[in-house]
Amino acid sequence: MQIKKLTLKDYRSYQNKTFEFSNKVNILVGKNAQGKTNVVEAIFFMIIGKSFKTSKEKEVVSWQAENGYIKGEFSKKYRDVEIEMFFGKDRKKTIKIDGISIHKMGELLGSANAVFFSPEELKLVKESPEERRRFINVVLSQTNKKYFYLLGRYEKVLASRNKLLKSTQDLQEIKDTIDIWDRALAELSAKIYVERENFIKELTPFAKKAHEYLSNGEEKLEMQYKSSFEGEDYEGKMLKYLSKNLQKDFKLGYTSVGVHRDEIDIYLNGVEVKNFGSQGQQRTTALSLKLAELEFIKNRVGEYPILLLDDVFSELDANRRKKLLNFTSKTQTIITCTEFEKTKDFDGKIFEIVKNQ
Ligand SMILES: Nc1ncnc2c1ncn2[C@@H]1O[C@H](COP(=O)(O)OP(=O)(O)O)[C@@H](O)[C@H]1O
Ligand SMILES: [Mg+2]
Repeated sequence: MQIKKLTLKDYRSYQNKTFEFSNKVNILVGKNAQGKTNVVEAIFFMIIGKSFKTSKEKEVVSWQAENGYIKGEFSKKYRDVEIEMFFGKDRKKTIKIDGISIHKMGELLGSANAVFFSPEELKLVKESPEERRRFINVVLSQTNKKYFYLLGRYEKVLASRNKLLKSTQDLQEIKDTIDIWDRALAELSAKIYVERENFIKELTPFAKKAHEYLSNGEEKLEMQYKSSFEGEDYEGKMLKYLSKNLQKDFKLGYTSVGVHRDEIDIYLNGVEVKNFGSQGQQRTTALSLKLAELEFIKNRVGEYPILLLDDVFSELDANRRKKLLNFTSKTQTIITCTEFEKTKDFDGKIFEIVKNQ
């Protein structure tokens, strides 16, 4: 899968700009704050429907304009696809696929795929569990529509339950109504658990292989999806727990169990890497997960996703840099870096990025 052409109009630092990308490696070179990440943000926006920089999407509209626009022309194995997004300072964005307006984000997801990698993602392994759940959500939302809809419903039900927990000082008042939310939450939680557990099972061999490669065969990676409940009758167990622990959740003011609290446990040679791994091991593991993501998407959709590497080379040592570059032969890759980081190892189409040009 490739992005052939990108058009940006009044999008962040760009007034009107098009990029025609090579199918292989593309290198966006420029000083700081010239607009390199803005390009990657726009591409990933069209793929996951969100910005990785902000949750306030109107921020992407150029300061001097009222409306912004981006268009991506993607080429896939079996069909090409054109994605357009229209942003406004006083309205929600609208989306078109091949010229036709869509109304649900679920219709966009899966139209194109990408793996995004930045220095932030290098912290994937050592940061809070939320980051690892986000990792799962970003990959699964792109490849599994059912998952995306389940997650959306789950988040709504969870918010409603939490709101109810905080709505009164008297537990008796909400005892009956909360049952409806408990049932919905347990049912959705059980379904999401199954999808996530299957995902981690499918991802693990790829992560193992990538990690073996990155660590020169020295480290064996294992991982496991960890949920509040496990095994058979997840739903029943959760429902029971929720009703038994209502007092506790009421005091806390939020729901203490469910897939919004889950975790991926990762081990290297049997040692838990989040708490006991060195910084180098944690970074290598993050890279392994990202490379596994690439293979997972290939396995699911039948072709490699676009690889977006924002500023990562400065963060990696020569060995890992070289190994990561090896992977780029499989995919269309878009790399951002400063002139200083650009090495002779980089071979590709060069775009000089200078603000307002
Ligand atoms: N909505 C916006 N309108 C105009 N310029 C913006 C907007 N948002 C960000 N910018 C500009 O984009 C620059 C950052 O671009 P970025 O792509 O992050 O740079 P880098 O080349 O370092 O990756 C900032 O300096 C800012 O001036
Ligand atoms: Mg940047």
